[in-house]
Amino acid sequence: MKLAFITIEGVESSGKSIQAKLLTDWLKENGLNPLLTIEPGGTPFGKTIRKLLLNGTNIDPITEFFLYLSDRKEHIIKVILPAMEKGKIVVSDRYYDSTFAYQGGGRGIDKKWIESLMNYVVQNVIPDITFLIDISPEISLSRIKGKDRIEKEEMAFHKRVREAYLKRAREFPDRIRVINGARTIREIQDDIRNQLKERLVHK
Ligand SMILES: Nc1ncnc2c1ncn2[C@@H]1O[C@H](COP(=O)(O)OP(=O)(O)O)[C@@H](O)[C@H]1O
Ligand SMILES: [Mg+2]
Repeated sequence: MKLAFITIEGVESSGKSIQAKLLTDWLKENGLNPLLTIEPGGTPFGKTIRKLLLNGTNIDPITEFFLYLSDRKEHIIKVILPAMEKGKIVVSDRYYDSTFAYQGGGRGIDKKWIESLMNYVVQNVIPDITFLIDISPEISLSRIKGKDRIEKEEMAFHKRVREAYLKRAREFPDRIRVINGARTIREIQDDIRNQLKERLVHK
């Protein structure tokens, strides 16, 4: 199977962005053609949504949910699908598992309801492989100084997010690889690369 869409997931400051960047560099070094992108904010429209989501004050959970879906729809249509059509490997720093973890686990929105709307938004644009950087939010959040709206949530929220991610990983064991995030940046990256090597050889 062709590897065309890779996503990186995890709680706040788990190391998603740094790992996504290092992974993209490695894919380039190996003669592949990756595109590094991010949610929310992978399109100009999405950048405005990102500001609303991260800088805003209190937002109703359903309002927040729809903002993420709007960001994602634009991202799929304007960035992800065109890149895949050009034969690129898309590396996305967050994608739809984030919504199940944050809006489902974190905010308590009904999972079935999220699922039905999510299917409508993503359709067949499902990651081939997802790396869930798993780490205790107590550790990862201690890395941040100036916190945004989500990062400022109470610790119980972040713990629910982590648990919901792990639950999702158990539901999709073939797609979602749980990566121990309580290690050095280098060790985590080597783990990700080794798992992809396996995948590139066997499929
Ligand atoms: N494995 C790690 N060990 C220690 N610090 C890390 C690790 N991974 C990332 N960091 C640091 O934590 C902060 C958040 O990393 P980042 O990649 O931006 O996380 P995210 O994108 O998940 O929020 C950065 O300052 C980064 O250098
Ligand atoms: Mg980041």
